[in-house]
Amino acid sequence: MSKLSQLHEEILPCQRCQLARQRTRTVPGEGAENPDIMFIGEAPGYHEDQQGRPFVGSAGQFLTQLLASINLKREQVYITNVIKCRPPQNRDPLPGEIAACRSWLDRQIELIHPKMIVTLGRYSMALFADGKSISKIHGTAQKKGDIIYFAMYHPAAALHQQSLRHDIEQDMLKIPAVLAQAKSVAEVKPEPKPEAKQLNMFGG
Ligand code: URA
Repeated sequence: MSKLSQLHEEILPCQRCQLARQRTRTVPGEGAENPDIMFIGEAPGYHEDQQGRPFVGSAGQFLTQLLASINLKREQVYITNVIKCRPPQNRDPLPGEIAACRSWLDRQIELIHPKMIVTLGRYSMALFADGKSISKIHGTAQKKGDIIYFAMYHPAAALHQQSLRHDIEQDMLKIPAVLAQAKSVAEVKPEPKPEAKQLNMFGG
């Protein structure tokens, strides 16, 4: 069994917070083991809780379409959430629940070691850009360590709001170029030269 599958097995019986009492299933995450891109949403909803899989409801169908717009299938990326259990009535995750779940996510990131993390929604964006407004930073990337973080609106919000829908579709289309640049930065490992501003498209 792979280390990632072992981690999923560890997550399944998790009792670290109160959400364990009401969930049907834990939703660890799924997808490729060594993908370039990892998507992080907020929390499982009704369908995810029933099936134990992330993004399988209407927001998930939209995410699958968005991935197709850049020629990616779900199996080519890894998809997970900030918290692994559904909050009752789909309420927002509480700070204590996010904190209790954090080390699962950290271990997933460490094992998967993606080149790029795409955050879906505010809670996920707060992992790398706490205090920023998603309306300001969606569609932009920042490098932290050797991972590129790219913020997007949550597909569930964008599904029913035409202007957000346009934004999320356009942001998705930027991902291949951001990733291509991330790859060349990682592979060539250039000496930092002030005149060669390789990362200027990441705003840093
Ligand atoms: N919304 C999320 O944030 N995650 C899911 O898995 C489904 C809906």
